[in-house]
Parts: sequence; C-alpha cells; structure tokens
Amino acid sequence: MTKNNLTTSWGAPVGDNQNSMTAGSRGPTLIQDVHLLEKLAHFNRERIPERVVHAKGAGAHGYFEVTNDVTKYTKAAFLSEVGKRTPMFARFSTVAGEAGSADTVRDPRGFALKFYTEEGNYDLVGNNTPIFFIRDAIKFPDFIHTQKRHPQTHLKNPNAVWDFWSLSPESLHQVTYLMGDRGIPATLRHMHGFGSHTFKWTNAEGDGVWIKYHFKTEQGIKNLTQEVADKIAGENPDYHTEDLFNAIENGDFPAWKMYVQIMPLEDANTYRFDPFDVTKTWSQKDYPLIEVGRMVLDRNPENYFAEVEQATFSPGTLVPGVDVSPDKMLQGRLFAYHDAHRYRVGANHQALPINRARNEVKNYQRDGAMRFDDNGGSSVYYEPNSYGGPTESPENKQAAYPVSGVADSVAYDHNDHYTQPGDLYRLQSEEERERLVQTFVNAMKPVEKDEIKLRQIGHLYKADPEFGTRVAEGLGLQVPEEVK
Ligand code: HEM
Repeated sequence: MTKNNLTTSWGAPVGDNQNSMTAGSRGPTLIQDVHLLEKLAHFNRERIPERVVHAKGAGAHGYFEVTNDVTKYTKAAFLSEVGKRTPMFARFSTVAGEAGSADTVRDPRGFALKFYTEEGNYDLVGNNTPIFFIRDAIKFPDFIHTQKRHPQTHLKNPNAVWDFWSLSPESLHQVTYLMGDRGIPATLRHMHGFGSHTFKWTNAEGDGVWIKYHFKTEQGIKNLTQEVADKIAGENPDYHTEDLFNAIENGDFPAWKMYVQIMPLEDANTYRFDPFDVTKTWSQKDYPLIEVGRMVLDRNPENYFAEVEQATFSPGTLVPGVDVSPDKMLQGRLFAYHDAHRYRVGANHQALPINRARNEVKNYQRDGAMRFDDNGGSSVYYEPNSYGGPTESPENKQAAYPVSGVADSVAYDHNDHYTQPGDLYRLQSEEERERLVQTFVNAMKPVEKDEIKLRQIGHLYKADPEFGTRVAEGLGLQVPEEVK
C-alpha cells in the first residue's frame, strides 16, 4: 500500500510538520527549514482582495432548463429548444458589508448567475430588486462610499447615506423598496431575482427586442422583520449562507422560474419614460411576463475559495443573441467588472475552473500572470495569419443599432422620480405602510442635520403626501412648505 505522504508544495515528502528545525530543543529556528518558510509564506498570501462591493456571499451550482420557446426573440443557443439544460453557477450576496459581515442586514441582495452555454459563458449579474439607486455609472463610487465606513471613525455613517440619497432623488424608488418588507429576505431562497437593466435579444433573422429579466422564487417570498433580523445578525451572522448550504445538502433544491418582459425596439422612443433608466420598472400591463425557463440549484461548492471567492461575474460576459442596451449604468458596468476581476483575481481569471467556458476558448491572448493552462501551446499566436488559426464569424457581431445626438455630459431627459415610488407606497396595505414609515424613521433618526432629513421628507411627500407627512411626524418635523 502506498503511504499517504504529506508533501511540500513542490511535491517532496515532509519529514516533520509539527516541529520546526531548531538548533537544539530550545532553538533558535534554522532558516534552512524550507518547509517552514514555504508554509508561513503561503499563509501570508491566503487572502485576495475581497470584492469592493458584494463581498459577503454564498454560491451554488445548478442548471437552467428551457420551458418555453423564445426562439422568435433570441438566437441564444442555450435557449434554442424547450427541455434544453445548461449547467450554471449562482452567487448571492449583500452589497455594502465586508466578507465577514452579517447576512441579515437591510441591503439589496446580489443575484449573480453564470450560464455555461455551448457558445460561451453568459453572466447575468442582477439583484433581488428590479431597480437601482442611481442611473449613471459616474455616481457609483460616490454612492458606495456613503454605504461604507467613515474615513475617521470607521463606523457606518447615516449622515452620508441620507445626504447622498436626499441629493439624488432618482434613488427614491429603490430606497422605498429597500425600507419595505422585501428589504430583508428571510433566506436567499425566498427572494426573487432581476436582471434590472434593459438588455437586447436578437433572433436568427437579426431582429431585436428590448427585454428585462425576472426570476420568481418557487419557494415563495418570505422576509424578516427588522427585530428578528437584528437578533439573528447577533446570533448567527452567517444565517443565509448556512441556510442555502443546508437546503441543498438536504436535497431541498431551490428553484426560480425565469420570465422576460419584451418591448419592441421602436417603443423605446415613445414610452412614457426612458426604458433604459434603471430606476424605473416597466409596467407589466404594457409588457407582460413571458415564461422562459427554470433554474435549479442542486449542488454545493466543494471548496468555497476556489468556486465562490474566485468566481468572476460580469454584465459584459455575453453570448450571441444577447446584447446590451444604452442604459448608462450598464454601460459603465461593462468596464467595471472585468477590470475588478483583473485586479482581484488576475489577468487569467477566466481560465480558472469555476470561470472557464465549457466550450473551447480559442483566441490570440497569451501569457500574463499565472497562465496555468497550456497557453495556446505552439499554435499560431497572431491574426491575420496563414496557418489556419481561429477566425471571426460576422454573423455573431453584436446587433447594429442607430444612434444620434450631441456628445455631452447630460442626464436622461425624463426626470419623474416620484410616480413609481408613490405607486409602491400606495400599493401597500396599512400594516405594510406602518412598517415602511417606521423603518424610514428609525433609519433617518441618527442623521445629524435636519436639513438632510427635511430634504428627504420633501421627496417622500412628492411621492405621496401621506408618506412624507407620516415620516415627518415620526421624526418630530414638519413637511417643508416649499414642497407642498
Ligand atoms: C459586484 C461595480 C451596479 C450587481 C460588483 C463589483 C464591482 C461592481 C466592481 C465587484 C466585482 C468583483 O470583484 O468580482 C459596479 C458598478 C456599478 C454597479 C461600477 C454601476 C455603474 C450594479 C447593479 C447591480 C449590481 C445595478 C444589479 C442590478 C452586482 C452583483 C455583484 C456586483 C450581484 C456581485 C457579483 C458576484 O457575486 O461576484 N459591482 N456595480 N451592480 N455587482 Fe455591481
């Protein structure tokens, strides 16, 4: 029988892994103990930078199965046939907290999906909310600064949070959503997912439609009250991570139905607001949900670091049949993610097993740190070439679309930030409104400046006078006359 020898990282058997090599039993320690040196040095390098946002997360493997024929809308190969299954990986996360922070905080949840299709990987990097706080990528670093820690105290800072939100009224829809019951999901299984942005599907004939993705949980929606969430955060900060792992381990596989809303391309010019503005939802009366398929998560990762921490999702990881839209947030994200991955994981992150496409990757990119595959071997390494190297396929170009306008730094033309959050308030039962108002009051109470609170109350009032008045009363303030 071969012995199960412990080896050094270069494969040589280790003679002693419990006692370092010393001069005599008392020491000092000898630098010639190369196994000790390597062990300590490798340990020092165990951490890679955590994600700058969405650092705390849990992931699982599964599959996506097509349940409805959508080939008249998209030529995406993984959606080509009812019954077709595509392997996938999902990662759910909170946004603002660090990698060790509590799961049950009030925060959007990331809903990141990687489909390993036969025409390359397709990533859908969404949230559990259909909208976002801002609608231009240029505001993202400032927005995230307000969600992170104060540079001096290293504490979370409600002043910054409400200062930014009250000065960015486009955030009101998402803030109202976040302060409502769905702001703290009971588990990662009991929440919906959304692509949030507008994307474009293109069919085999080259005809396009604008789409929005919806993933409806088959487990049903369940949320935590603030009180219960706070208690769990103290008792078990990894509550959601544990729940997902245990559910899958016990064979209780979570599943979501995927739907799309479909908008004809020309409607984007005449819809009552800009359909590319990610702070808005499209009415389901105008654009009803169309079923596409079902995603099931049925396998836990074998190794968290290799599969979850090193997973790299990007809204720019697209396949033929799925294109982007002019959404200004989405456009900025097309740069941000792979750039983050090159920094956080390395230039060859897409070659790691969790990120590697299941079809053959053939291109002329070579070398770089940690190039651990065959690096293209001796095959031709430039293009154009006369050696039969891989060539482009014009039928797979992104769909062309007309653009016009003057190059300038400008906002979207549509600036109604109040109708949709007002509708969201009016849609709620009295009990839900009571909890919503109380959550706003509790969250805004620690803000130092009345000026900031009054500005936010003004926005709430403009969404719905009752909404603004109730939050003002809860804070012991009056709605400012100028917004009435
Ligand atoms: C993660 C940037 C908006 C969802 C990240 C990361 C960055 C980033 C740098 C870390 C990536 C990594 O290290 O792997 C941005 C920028 C945005 C933006 C610049 C706006 C311009 C959004 C929006 C959504 C979203 C609108 C959802 C609709 C996510 C998710 C993750 C993430 C789910 C975690 C992915 C994972 O699980 O690895 N974002 N983000 N982000 N972002 Fe964004």
